Amino acid sequence: MNRDFIERVRETVDIVEYIGRYVDLKKSGKSYRGLCPFHQEKTPSFYVDPDKGVYHCFGCGASGNIFRFVMDIEGLSFREAVIKLAREYGIEVPSREVEGKTSPVYAALRFASDYYHEILMSPHGRDAYRYLMKRKIGPRAISSFKIGYAPSDGKSFITKAMTKNFDRGTLIQAGLARKTESGTIIDYFRGRLIFPIFTPGGNVIAFGGRALSDEVQPKYLNSPDSEIFKKGNILFGLFQAKSSIRMKGIAIVVEGYFDVIKMHQAGFQNTVAPMGTALTENQVLVLRRYTKNVLLLYDGDEAGRKAVERSIPIALRAGLNVKISLLPEGEDPDSIIDKFGPEGIRSYMDRQVDFLEYQFREAEKFRESPSEFSEAIKGILENIFMIPDGITRDAYLNRLSELSRIPVDSLRNQGLKFSGETGINKKSKRREVKLTADFIVLVNILRHKELVEIMSDLFNEEDFDDPLTRELFRGVKQGLGYEEIMASGSEVLRSSITEALLRSGNLHENLALLEEKIRLWKYRKDYRDAKRLFEDARKMGDRERMDFYLKKMYEIKKKLRGKGGLF
Ligand code: GTP
Ligand code: MN
Repeated sequence: MNRDFIERVRETVDIVEYIGRYVDLKKSGKSYRGLCPFHQEKTPSFYVDPDKGVYHCFGCGASGNIFRFVMDIEGLSFREAVIKLAREYGIEVPSREVEGKTSPVYAALRFASDYYHEILMSPHGRDAYRYLMKRKIGPRAISSFKIGYAPSDGKSFITKAMTKNFDRGTLIQAGLARKTESGTIIDYFRGRLIFPIFTPGGNVIAFGGRALSDEVQPKYLNSPDSEIFKKGNILFGLFQAKSSIRMKGIAIVVEGYFDVIKMHQAGFQNTVAPMGTALTENQVLVLRRYTKNVLLLYDGDEAGRKAVERSIPIALRAGLNVKISLLPEGEDPDSIIDKFGPEGIRSYMDRQVDFLEYQFREAEKFRESPSEFSEAIKGILENIFMIPDGITRDAYLNRLSELSRIPVDSLRNQGLKFSGETGINKKSKRREVKLTADFIVLVNILRHKELVEIMSDLFNEEDFDDPLTRELFRGVKQGLGYEEIMASGSEVLRSSITEALLRSGNLHENLALLEEKIRLWKYRKDYRDAKRLFEDARKMGDRERMDFYLKKMYEIKKKLRGKGGLF
């Protein structure tokens, strides 16, 4: 991409304002601080430094520039992130940047979603379309969820994709085809209704396929997990739901694909579903970008209750308010809407209670048995102590005390014991990377275009000792700009760069100092070269050349005298 365009976008976007849409940031010295949106924490270790244009989490190591933030939060590529920001801030996007290549896997997935949808709408999709009618899914939902149908013959999709020059490897990697035992390849989805799974930003990354008849097993077949699709990180329907979630200030979580679609049809567009049963940590962190309130609207059967129990602590730990409404056993939002319409499901939603009330009602079933009741209360306490905010925690403790008639102090003491056991303040397990002086200087050099060119001309990767500095320099040699490295480098590299920037203050902003450092590096390189050539000469027994390089080494050392710290 064009360097100047990237630079223009970076200069225009206010990183504090932008990240502030997702994270509650408070000023702290020269930077801003808040709760990291990429991992669960109770004390803020996420910093945004507007001067240096970076964010860095000292807890989990998430870090990068504004482009990286948009890539991770919205699930976009570097190019897409730059373009998204440009459009948002009214910067004209050069036309040649728009077309740009996307990875063939994404292209194949997009092609597949178009293909399946077209098939559904064609005569070949007649049975599937009838099935949708039977389940009361209308044309608007079919189009907004881009529902499709995969033919049953096992080769239609592959054949069509090949005519568009998608190769086998790409199709397999995208989870759209798979190898059979005899070595041929076959469509992954066959004879199934297809629900594309979108990132929050609207890219298709996977599919869920439902069998058209109950004889076929499994009932649902999802794309295999891959580099780009991790089931536990994605919520079905979020792309279609996100603006409504923001507007209504609450996300409704249901269990299945049909539930989501029916809820949207019934006017509850703020509905999403995890792709298994219970919410995962990552899904909760994704949701938290849009709202702090969730309503779990699950089937009241054994499986639904279990899913609720497992989801509660995960949501609480992320600082979410959790409400629960269980449907009668064996019913899901889809079946309730079929039977009683939107008002029917609405009446269940109106009966929602918060997690404390829900769990206390469950506990009360054991009132007769003091030991079982106390176990249930301990379970609730454990959840209360997951709540990051102390005041909220106290409010729940007081309410639990009123409900159970157990003194609040004894609840608190018991709870504190738990929080010790479950490691409420456990330090996150993050590998420590040692930053060398070379690395810190190189990071600072990177921010000055003139110096980068000199560096790139004079040095090679091998001139640096530690692997991290080498990796960074490799990027420089490849002609990647600072912003690209900050957005696309490895996680260790990015977090090391931001750490170096945050640590080095303004010392290395001084151009003269940096130039001096480059000169020292050059001497060191020259010294090594001379030494190597000296060794070669010695092996050959060439006295003349030995003398020559020895003198050279001596001269370099003399130049360096008093400059210290190099050898
Ligand atoms: P319908 O029967 O079509 O209404 O689906 P449902 O969503 O009501 O199904 P159910 O309540 O049985 O399952 C809820 C969710 O669990 C589904 O939407 C799927 O995401 C998932 N699921 C259910 N059955 C299977 C299966 O056989 N395999 C996989 N991978 N997931 C399943
Ligand atoms: Mn159902």
